[in-house]
Amino acid sequence: MIKDSIIKLESFNYSPYQILQKKRDGIALSKAEIEWFVSSYTSGDIPDYQMAALLMAIYLRGMNVEETKFLTDAMLYSGKVLDFADQKVIDKHSTGGVGDKTSFILGPIAAACGVKVPMIAGRGLGHTGGTVDKIECIENFNTSLSLEELKHNLEKINIVLIGQTKDIAPADKKIYALRDVTATVESIPLITASIMSKKLAEGTSGIVMDIKTGSGAFMKNLKEAKALAKSIRNTALRFNKNIITMLTDMNQPLGNAVGNSLEIIECIETLKGKGPKDLTDLSLSLAGGMIYLAGLAKNLDAGIKMAKESIKNKNALEKFRELIIAQGGSGDYIDDYTKFPVAKNVMEIKAQKSGYINQIDGIGIGLSLVDLGGGRKKSTDKIDYSVGIIVHKKIGDKVIKGHPIASLYYHSHQQVMAQEICYKYQQEYVVIKSKIPQHISPLIIETKIDWSK
Ligand code: URA
Repeated sequence: MIKDSIIKLESFNYSPYQILQKKRDGIALSKAEIEWFVSSYTSGDIPDYQMAALLMAIYLRGMNVEETKFLTDAMLYSGKVLDFADQKVIDKHSTGGVGDKTSFILGPIAAACGVKVPMIAGRGLGHTGGTVDKIECIENFNTSLSLEELKHNLEKINIVLIGQTKDIAPADKKIYALRDVTATVESIPLITASIMSKKLAEGTSGIVMDIKTGSGAFMKNLKEAKALAKSIRNTALRFNKNIITMLTDMNQPLGNAVGNSLEIIECIETLKGKGPKDLTDLSLSLAGGMIYLAGLAKNLDAGIKMAKESIKNKNALEKFRELIIAQGGSGDYIDDYTKFPVAKNVMEIKAQKSGYINQIDGIGIGLSLVDLGGGRKKSTDKIDYSVGIIVHKKIGDKVIKGHPIASLYYHSHQQVMAQEICYKYQQEYVVIKSKIPQHISPLIIETKIDWSK
């Protein structure tokens, strides 16, 4: 059932200037003011520069719990709100990180285990890549299905992956793009409202939320990540959604591949049981959470066990193939990686000294990918799927001077840029010390499960 619940606002007479002034001075905004500002911006009556000013004021002044709730609601009801009324419809969302590609693994796993997974995903934001951009490296994969087609595919094969439509949280679509270019991404109320408006509009009964923390994440420290997790949990419970939040490490890229085609190939390898350990473990845990929330396993561990089994028996791999075919792509990508666009030139980045990797700068790596054309600098940029970086050595790994620690995939005309990235990688992106780092963050730092009823 699709409920058409676009909020109709009474015609309030507010002044954008006065609302900006209020937030700038740290005074809480009312429900009506927030609703009016968001709906006027979505309809085009408030220009980008005034919304940009409000976003910066929110970034600097914050929002209290009530304001965050009003903002989420205003963004949620800027479009349609689906309601599947089915406990098996579950989605996962991540706050974003470098090399974060779990959706392509956990989606097919959960769907193969009987969960219905309607993924409405985003494009790249800042230094982080976007799920929709990544899957589009598969030729003809159509991420612009209608809501009717989404429902049809969900019914038929349990899984669908589309980009944000104009029907689902259109306010977020516009605001998200503006935040990306105004340095206003890393804000708890703005992230809560952005993520939850989309997730709540999808009509799932439960959500598994991967909240990244560390140098490569929007939330740099554990305290901020915990506060974001709490804000997201509160919002989910207010809407009677079951929720699992996992705080996970983003002090280095997840898995080894960074770059669109390279990441999808790594996901297929993971579905074949040959993926990197961190990516495999996190995908299994998140998928296990989805299986549990769907009521298909008696607890999280039982869900993870089912997830593992779906990799072993190849059901998850075949589900990914089904997804590709259902959305217009060729199933041959699963067996033939030469179909993927991958840049021909490979530069080995070699360790400058022997020792142990103590730090990796995920943001630096993410921004280098953007420089190569694998991400966007402005919203109109076209993505180059073929460029990327494979990180061979991760935190805690032993390295030997002169041996490769990463490989860079680039085009011939990018030779100078590739050399610059190689130099920065050696000098800035990795810190090699003679001793193993004293503290290596666990991959999953905290898991909280909340049932709404
Ligand atoms: N992902 C989102 O969808 N929104 C944000 O604000 C950050 C990450």
